Amino acid sequence: MAFARGADLLAPTTLRAHGLLLRPVVAADEPAVARAMADPGVLRWAAGMAVIAAPPRDRAAVWLSARVGAWSAGTAAFAVTDPADDVMIGYLGLRDVHRTPDQAVAGYWVTPSARGRQVTARALDAASAWAFEPPHAGGLGLHRIHLDHVLHNVGSCRAALRAGFAEEGVMRDSFIEPDGTRHDCHLHARLATDPPARPFA
Ligand SMILES: CC(C)(COP(=O)(O)OP(=O)(O)OC[C@H]1O[C@@H](n2cnc3c(N)ncnc32)[C@H](O)[C@@H]1OP(=O)(O)O)[C@@H](O)C(=O)NCCC(=O)NCCS
Repeated sequence: MAFARGADLLAPTTLRAHGLLLRPVVAADEPAVARAMADPGVLRWAAGMAVIAAPPRDRAAVWLSARVGAWSAGTAAFAVTDPADDVMIGYLGLRDVHRTPDQAVAGYWVTPSARGRQVTARALDAASAWAFEPPHAGGLGLHRIHLDHVLHNVGSCRAALRAGFAEEGVMRDSFIEPDGTRHDCHLHARLATDPPARPFA
């Protein structure tokens, strides 16, 4: 079987689906990212060690430095925006694209004021559907995308299930916090051959 390669050269892509606009993260997103990084949930579960370790005033810049231009390093880093104003309300990233042939890992957050509208599920379904498309149709030709969340992050679990990411099991002690606290995580994945997510209202 031949796999698509060249993961380190993803073409920056814009998607419109389910009432959302997904476009590459840009430096001008800093105010929106700063609002998100001020949320304890985003900081704890989705920002990463480097951001947590940074002084609060620098956190948005540290987060952005790893995402702006990430497309050329194998991460599809989407700012999720409302098409009406293009203000970033969430993040949907597909990282490690093709590190394992035809696979990637999803990560996400939604800024607190935009929660409760299934932004994650809609963005995750949109990005997955694109990533599963063959390269000749503009996609990445992926077969499998996985994600994980700490067991008690019920909102993340429900969003993943709603986007068609079936639960595959428990990854023991796989999430570690800066103070050394470890958490079990649910592993979820969606395959290109799985049924699509149910239609969104
Ligand atoms: C997880 C997160 C991305 C979900 O945001 P969202 O897309 O706006 O999700 P919604 O608020 O629409 O909720 C999705 C579902 O989870 C449910 N839910 C949300 N928070 C919940 C909670 N604390 N307890 C139980 N259910 C919850 C909602 O009722 C909804 O259920 P439904 O699909 O049956 O309607 C957001 O809460 C967030 O950014 N959290 C901090 C960062 C984070 O945890 N990222 C994921 C790391 S794996």
